[in-house]
Amino acid sequence: MSSTNKSSLLFSELTLRGITLKNRIVVSPMCTYSCEDGMVNDWHLVQYGSFATGGAGLVVCEATGVEARGRLAPQCPGLWKDEQIEPWSRVTRFLKSQGCVPGIQIAHSGRKGSTVPTWVGRNSIHDKDGGWQTIGPTAEAFGADVWKVPKEATVEDIHQIKEAFVAAANRAVRAGFQVIELHFAHGYLVSTFLSSATNKRTDSYGGSLENRMRLGLEIAEGVRKTLPEAVVLGVRVSVTDYTDNGWDVTQTQEFAKRLKALNIDFLDCSSGGLVSDVNYNCLNTNEVHIKSAALIQREVGIPTGAVGKITDPHFAEQILQEGGATLIFIGRAFLNNPHWPYEAADALASEHTFKYPDQYDWCIGWKGFAKWRKDIHKDRNNN
Ligand SMILES: Cc1cc2nc3c(=O)[nH]c(=O)nc-3n(C[C@H](O)[C@H](O)[C@H](O)COP(=O)(O)O)c2cc1C
Repeated sequence: MSSTNKSSLLFSELTLRGITLKNRIVVSPMCTYSCEDGMVNDWHLVQYGSFATGGAGLVVCEATGVEARGRLAPQCPGLWKDEQIEPWSRVTRFLKSQGCVPGIQIAHSGRKGSTVPTWVGRNSIHDKDGGWQTIGPTAEAFGADVWKVPKEATVEDIHQIKEAFVAAANRAVRAGFQVIELHFAHGYLVSTFLSSATNKRTDSYGGSLENRMRLGLEIAEGVRKTLPEAVVLGVRVSVTDYTDNGWDVTQTQEFAKRLKALNIDFLDCSSGGLVSDVNYNCLNTNEVHIKSAALIQREVGIPTGAVGKITDPHFAEQILQEGGATLIFIGRAFLNNPHWPYEAADALASEHTFKYPDQYDWCIGWKGFAKWRKDIHKDRNNN
């Protein structure tokens, strides 16, 4: 990839349904465990706001519980009641004011709920200490420190959870979100239904691939049907859970076909998180994500998101140029530098398509300060 490429794909617009992203840079959803009673606050405004002033095309806000029981930790955000809408609206209004599309990941933690924030550990929380009864396809704990045994979901529970996803998605729209991502990855509720390693049911929600996909497909269908036409709906999956006889890329491909038929707009390809005794997770690998994103986009024809240890703008650009994905999800590089797109625009020489916020453009942008930026390049290249 030439560093003087003037028409980078990373910095090209993308229109999905009625929504245009100014570039393909997506902030990957990242839990911050900073709420009380599921209500977002100044932390979320400032953090997500900084990614927007930093130039992201789309910010997908962190895993947000569709019901209180569906939070990972007591400090996770929620959209299970109307009072949670207005605090989120503050965030979406600011993101939009910066030309950034607001997105949100809605989630149900399943058997991995009722745990402490990750910076404290991984442990389950006793009910007497503010924890709750978790729920899953089967009454088996995740393992290790997540010792809580979930209740095996009845068919009535399953219907109620589907309705909770639909209601939360509609609250997200009322809060101003234009992109919704369903969290079907990382060993949370829906991914435990997908994998035969965790789904031991014998009813119509367990057993065959068709039955294991049923909950995810019903949620996707129910949510899509009630969303306004212009709202983009994507899904995050784990393409593999790294277990023998569990969920794999071939089953993901089949799932992707079915999601595409339900008018799901993109598939965000991650991995792992299902069981405690495997070596790989979504943070320490990216090869399988990136290969699967390319395979599924090519074979199924659904736009994909590539994610995992993408920090080098040239690598991001290469993925897009090779047709390996439509969106580039970036997590930790944004925590490290919320203005990552500024650096990426410099690296890819995308000065013609990248716009800094007005407040900065006059003093660091290419228009007024081309020489200053060129000197930065020169200094960097000489070192
Ligand atoms: C602090 C932190 C919190 C995360 N929370 C979520 C989450 O809420 N939902 C999710 O799907 N993935 C979550 N992830 C995974 C990221 O979205 C991303 O897939 C992962 O960090 C790999 O991308 P990266 O190498 O660019 O960071 C989290 C990752 C980090 C580091």
